[in-house]
Amino acid sequence: MKQIQIPGKNFPIFVYDTYEEASLAAAEFVAAEIKKKPDFLLGLATGSTPVGLYRALIEKNKKGEIDFSEVKTYNLDEYYPISPRNEQSFLSFMKENLFDHINLKPENVHIPCGEAPDPNLEAEHYEKELLAIGGVDLQVLGIGSDGHIGFNEPDDAFILPTHLVTLTEQTISDNARFFPSKKDVPTHALTMGIGAIMRAKKCILIANGKNKARAIREALLENPSPANQASILQFHRDVTFFLDHDAASEILSFLQDAVADPV
Ligand code: PGA
Repeated sequence: MKQIQIPGKNFPIFVYDTYEEASLAAAEFVAAEIKKKPDFLLGLATGSTPVGLYRALIEKNKKGEIDFSEVKTYNLDEYYPISPRNEQSFLSFMKENLFDHINLKPENVHIPCGEAPDPNLEAEHYEKELLAIGGVDLQVLGIGSDGHIGFNEPDDAFILPTHLVTLTEQTISDNARFFPSKKDVPTHALTMGIGAIMRAKKCILIANGKNKARAIREALLENPSPANQASILQFHRDVTFFLDHDAASEILSFLQDAVADPV
């Protein structure tokens, strides 16, 4: 592991040789936070990125190192429309990869409902729940290859509340691997907006793989812009990045060039 610093930016970035190491380090971070506050409010993400983190949290729970009995979880997003019982729903994903293996109470799980009759009302309802808690203690984030966090897709603005979003072609192609075919990927999703993500007391973002290197460079190095929604995290009060070497590769070459060619 090495910690890197981007000149002028004060958020910690940890770079690991492998995805497994990055996931374990993220799990240590999350576990340490939960230990400090049993009734922890934990914001969660789906996708392949957090699976290693979830595996490590399950192991820690089984060993009695962390207790989820008083923890409340808040997921970032859900496809729309989708039945929560559909095996491709994010609720099913969370059950399979985390919830069914830890001592979390089902009533403490929060996730937008993909089969609500009116998605805009459902978005309002979820936002009210998020406003009522005043921000999760820790939000876990992945990043899309187009820079999305949650399903906040590249846009002309940062949309603050929970909202219905049209998924980009890029996201639909990226996520087709979870579905029988690309045409089965829902075209829309309900997502926590940038407001609730920024209200989180802490955020961690995990990224691995070369296909994330550009999004990570734009998000961490360049001026924040809604064209890369993750770039807003540069303004977050307490964000930590856990990257594997591939995801960090464009930042690492930038830093090397900066050292080789000081101005
Ligand atoms: P992935 O998705 O972890 O499956 O790459 C990340 C995301 O869309 O946030």
